[in-house]
Amino acid sequence: MRLQGKVALVTGAGDSRSIGWGIAQALADEGADVVINDAVQPERLEQRAAELRSQGHRALAALADVSQPEQVEAMFERAVAEMGRIDIVASNAGVIRWEHFLDITPKNLRLIVNVNIKGNVYVCRAAAQRMIAQGDGGRIVITSSVQADMQFPLAPIYGATKHAMHIFVGCLALELAPHNITVNHIGPGWVQTTLNDVAPGQQSAEEIEANRQSVPLKRAGLTSEMGRAVTYYASSDGNYVTGTFLRVDGGLGIGKYSY
Ligand SMILES: NC(=O)c1ccc[n+]([C@@H]2O[C@H](COP(=O)([O-])OP(=O)(O)OC[C@H]3O[C@@H](n4cnc5c(N)ncnc54)[C@H](O)[C@@H]3O)[C@@H](O)[C@H]2O)c1
Repeated sequence: MRLQGKVALVTGAGDSRSIGWGIAQALADEGADVVINDAVQPERLEQRAAELRSQGHRALAALADVSQPEQVEAMFERAVAEMGRIDIVASNAGVIRWEHFLDITPKNLRLIVNVNIKGNVYVCRAAAQRMIAQGDGGRIVITSSVQADMQFPLAPIYGATKHAMHIFVGCLALELAPHNITVNHIGPGWVQTTLNDVAPGQQSAEEIEANRQSVPLKRAGLTSEMGRAVTYYASSDGNYVTGTFLRVDGGLGIGKYSY
């Protein structure tokens, strides 16, 4: 129970199969009270919060689109008003649209940049403002991707937004260090969430098996494993760790399995 007495906020956590939910559950398992966010399906989000409450945690469902700064501000206002404080923020919400570079539409370009870059900026800014005002540090963990370092076809804009998190996290870590706020990012490789149901090469059992074989540890990651990586950064184990990137990808980022 390393996070007893802490309050965490996790974005993009409404879907029970999502990485965000894996993070929320992992933080709650360590004793944190949790604000869970999503942009859609308020009933589903409320169900997740009820699930946490049934396990004995304080939990709040906070609907907001992270790409809308006024919605993010309202969410943080409410979170602090109802939960008392914010110690840990997992800025996890993200979107992908698989398409050939030549086919990218302005609409999809806008969506991916708005959620994956602007959304992280708005969430991290709102988080840092509250943590600085509280005066006793804080933890920010962004979910980027193995694509922060690794090129994939059909996802050039997504990859660019994830790579951007390297510099963003480093700059924030420098600016927020005097306030004892750490800023890090995790890089999932392949986790079989809704986001990946539409991924090219993952439609059939054969394709999924081929993907499995291409991961050095030979399986997809679990959302709970992403959650434990965030817990590492959020707990006292991560006290002296800031500005870093932790791939949680079964080795995918070091190369495809080839012998
Ligand atoms: N699944 C993977 O293999 C994988 C790999 C690398 C990185 N990631 C990253 O992990 C994060 C979570 O992905 P996932 O696989 O759980 O995806 P997911 O689609 O299963 O879940 C993402 C959740 O975020 C919500 N969301 C989308 N836009 C939002 C917005 N504007 N505001 C608030 N919530 C919003 C969605 O409604 C959804 O519930 C993303 O940042 C994604 O890029 C995923």
